[in-house]
Amino acid sequence: NAVLATNVFGCVIKYYKTVSSTNNAAKLLAQQDAREGTIVVSEEQGNGKGRLSRCWFSPAQKGIWCSLILRPPFLPQEAPKCTLMAAVSICKAIRSLTGVQVGIKWPNDILYNGKKLVGILTEMNAEMDRINYVIIGMGINVNVTVKDMPVEIRNTATSLLQIIGKKVSRVRLLCAILAELENEYEIIKAAGFAPILEQWKKYSVTLGQKVKVIGINETFYGKAVDIDDYGALLVDTGEKIERALAGDVSIRPA
Ligand code: BTN
Repeated sequence: NAVLATNVFGCVIKYYKTVSSTNNAAKLLAQQDAREGTIVVSEEQGNGKGRLSRCWFSPAQKGIWCSLILRPPFLPQEAPKCTLMAAVSICKAIRSLTGVQVGIKWPNDILYNGKKLVGILTEMNAEMDRINYVIIGMGINVNVTVKDMPVEIRNTATSLLQIIGKKVSRVRLLCAILAELENEYEIIKAAGFAPILEQWKKYSVTLGQKVKVIGINETFYGKAVDIDDYGALLVDTGEKIERALAGDVSIRPA
């Protein structure tokens, strides 16, 4: 009873039992002219990638490890919008399918009770001022048990199974996510980014919080006050408004 109610997203599905990283596999396909909406899914990843060169724990059959290929008509500097769009879509799909009231931590984590349930890794390839492709990599801890997890992440990560106490169908959840994603993507293309931004703010657990922003060259503290039209987080340090761009920084509660 899983139905994929999309026009384009997921019409081509490249399925692996195991792969090093679905993002890397998707990148190769994108370079070979794979069409927009193609997804790569794997039961397991040998070398799942997280942000900031971290590893992403991806045990067999326990989660959704997948990557979506997009060819958005945006400027390269607008690519972070794809990450926010994915966060909103996944958040909505999880809420409507399971009732679990997950929230979004800027820019790309989905949390429940402060623990990480979903990570998103967006990678882009652009030539001149045009995006060639965007890969949205999504890692969703669906049926991962505490026992499955490496000790280092047990205090900071969670899964739907741990939250609800029963297994969730990965196929149904993926279908719901792809439908939300396609819907949000159509909205962005037709009406711009503002509607997505509104929804993002509604689900945000970051806005209004005191945060520590850790950049490559500098670290600053302040209150997260808003996000701008490019998806950058605006932080009021007391002296000025700093702009934190996804990819460049990581944030923590102050
Ligand atoms: C993060 O929060 O650091 C991002 C994690 C992204 C993990 C997903 S799993 C599917 C896709 N393939 C990868 O190698 N990484 C992403």
